[in-house]
Amino acid sequence: MGPADLENIVKGLELYSDERTLLGIGDDAGVYLYGGSVFIHTVDFITPIVNDPYLWGAISATNSLSDVYAMGGIPLNALAVVGFNSCDMDIEVLREVMRGCTDKLREAKTVLLGGHTIDDREPKFGLAVMGVCEDGKYLTQNGARVGDLIALTKPIGVGILTKAIKEGKIKEVDIQEAIDYMLALNDRSAILAKRLESSSCTDVTGFGLLGHAWNIAKKSGVRFSIDFSRVPIYDESVFFIKQKLYPKGALDNYNFVREHTINEGLEWWQLLILSDPNTSGGLLFTFPKDRLPIMNEELTKLHIKAWIIGEVEEGEGLRLYR
Ligand code: CO
Ligand code: CO
Ligand code: CO
Repeated sequence: MGPADLENIVKGLELYSDERTLLGIGDDAGVYLYGGSVFIHTVDFITPIVNDPYLWGAISATNSLSDVYAMGGIPLNALAVVGFNSCDMDIEVLREVMRGCTDKLREAKTVLLGGHTIDDREPKFGLAVMGVCEDGKYLTQNGARVGDLIALTKPIGVGILTKAIKEGKIKEVDIQEAIDYMLALNDRSAILAKRLESSSCTDVTGFGLLGHAWNIAKKSGVRFSIDFSRVPIYDESVFFIKQKLYPKGALDNYNFVREHTINEGLEWWQLLILSDPNTSGGLLFTFPKDRLPIMNEELTKLHIKAWIIGEVEEGEGLRLYR
């Protein structure tokens, strides 16, 4: 569902809450205090985005764990959420999905405690994850401050690639870089965000870079100013979008942010690629400018990449330039 639909569904509901609820619906995950520990809860599941079931399981698990990292936490345990039809599909396929998931959970040191399956003609797979924020300093979407820098830790354009795979225009082996990024846990990106004293953080998924940037800007009462030329994008995504191949979600996402966006010269394909829905995307976070000098050193230590894509300004919504 689009961001607008989701807002409408929860609007006006009298949700039960208690004094231990630190953060309810609306951020990447819920945050709950119990017995002195700050717990983080989230669930995410997806339809197949690649043809290889092992890869799908591993990417889906990485994607589900990501919301815990986006809150500045570490995952502890998980439950599998599975939709599968054993008449349509060999049970061996589901075993491969589970094997991909299991390998990722081992890497993330996260225990699979159980799960639930339903009969479903369109396969679905994901995890409900419980994590913890050991230092209690969880990262939210509402703390970005004017003057902060905006960082992104993975390239964008996954939705376009997934669409190209589904239409048989490319295979997984042709987009190894994107696959490797989708398989990369956001664990060290979360450490980076914390070391840079991040003021706000989220992960780039279904609403696209612009949708998620707008989310933070709105909640923080600031404007996100993004330099298109500094945004990392997969070459293949640029190639396909110039042929007008993109998922409908990209257009929906752009239409959602359109009236809050000052566009200083970006072409239609540039706007759409910035709005392209991502799966298992990187962290998008803001941090104070005076932490910039230590960023490169931290990146080397953590063996990850990050790009500064813009700056937080006074105002509202988004400003895009190139
Ligand atoms: Co998220
Ligand atoms: Co999520
Ligand atoms: Co059950």
